Amino acid sequence: MTKLRTALAGCGKVARIHAAALSRLEEAQLVAVCDAEPARAEALAAACGARAFTDVRRMLDATRVDALVVCTPHPAHAAPAIAAAERGVHVLVEKPMAASLADCDAMLAAAAASGVKLGVVSQRRFYEPVLRMKAAIDAGKIGRPALGVVLMFNWREESYYASDPWRGRWDTEGGGVLVNQAPHQLDLLQWFLGEPEEITGYWANINHPSVAVDDTALALIRFAGGGLGCVVASLAQKPGLFTKVHVHGSSGASLGVQTESGASFIAGVSEIAGPPLNDLWTIPGEEHLLEIFEAEDRARFRTLDPTTHYHAIQIQDFFRAILEDRAPVVSGADGRRVVEMFTAVYQSNRERRPVRLPLASGE
Ligand SMILES: NC(=O)c1ccc[n+]([C@@H]2O[C@H](COP(=O)([O-])OP(=O)(O)OC[C@H]3O[C@@H](n4cnc5c(N)ncnc54)[C@H](O)[C@@H]3O)[C@@H](O)[C@H]2O)c1
Repeated sequence: MTKLRTALAGCGKVARIHAAALSRLEEAQLVAVCDAEPARAEALAAACGARAFTDVRRMLDATRVDALVVCTPHPAHAAPAIAAAERGVHVLVEKPMAASLADCDAMLAAAAASGVKLGVVSQRRFYEPVLRMKAAIDAGKIGRPALGVVLMFNWREESYYASDPWRGRWDTEGGGVLVNQAPHQLDLLQWFLGEPEEITGYWANINHPSVAVDDTALALIRFAGGGLGCVVASLAQKPGLFTKVHVHGSSGASLGVQTESGASFIAGVSEIAGPPLNDLWTIPGEEHLLEIFEAEDRARFRTLDPTTHYHAIQIQDFFRAILEDRAPVVSGADGRRVVEMFTAVYQSNRERRPVRLPLASGE
């Protein structure tokens, strides 16, 4: 198989996961990496046999790669993504797609103008318990998905915010828990319930005085398909407790996944502590499956490295989407919807009113 020549922008913590995942893919070959800090680019380049660069445009022009994976901090996703799209290079961007809707729209426009694929990382979509829920919902097994609930009770030390200069600041990160940790579960919620059409939100900083952004946020959501949603996302519980996404159907049946037991992993710092598990499954006649799913999921967890495994599956889907000329499982439009959701929470909190979606680029 011809391998798609691939470059990485940003050689920090999550880039190591991408480099490890790319090294195992038959569809791709990592040929170049780039970081604004030369030592970081050189270290990753040496570790994976790629060329090192300190400027994305120069790297793209010198290497003529087929695809670029963007692993820079979120407000710095748009510039490399657009530079790549303008050169006909496909782009997979880390979550969140960007810190602003203006950045999302510029990336979507650049990708549409040149006809390249634009994907956004949301690797929890590929967790087996999540795929089971999606298949059951799509098969109509719970009727209409009527109520979605995200509960994230997590913890971050002050040292986490101090670990990189861009973290925990409105100007260099764009927000807090809503922008950095919750996008995974916001994406699952919109995957299960569809497009949100109205959001009321609140946020607070409960116990992280070294940063100004939210360590806790709440959202009440009305979806266009008639469903309702409720999100509680917090980094203020020590120790971290769990993160769950539950969907209750119009038939009365409920499905759920615990995506994190204990605190969620921090890329390059900690490992995934336990397997993602279905924690609710009340479809009539299928209640017994919960135990079977759990046994399967615990057994699988012992056989793989969960920190890279689900990234690798999503990266492979993205490269196959290029080769098969189809949409990736998580598209740029999906990534924008998550940015729209957290933008609406901040706007609702600021203006003390429900916010109607869709939001325009300037919001
Ligand atoms: N999917 C996941 O589970 C997951 C996990 C961790 C991080 N992420 C995302 O990945 C992104 C990076 O996070 P991280 O933890 O690796 O951060 P990091 O700070 O460890 O790495 C970012 C790197 O980008 C470099 N950089 C910044 N601006 C640049 C530019 N203009 N050109 C080239 N390099 C530049 C920095 O020097 C740094 O080395 C964030 O958007 C984050 O949300 C996703």
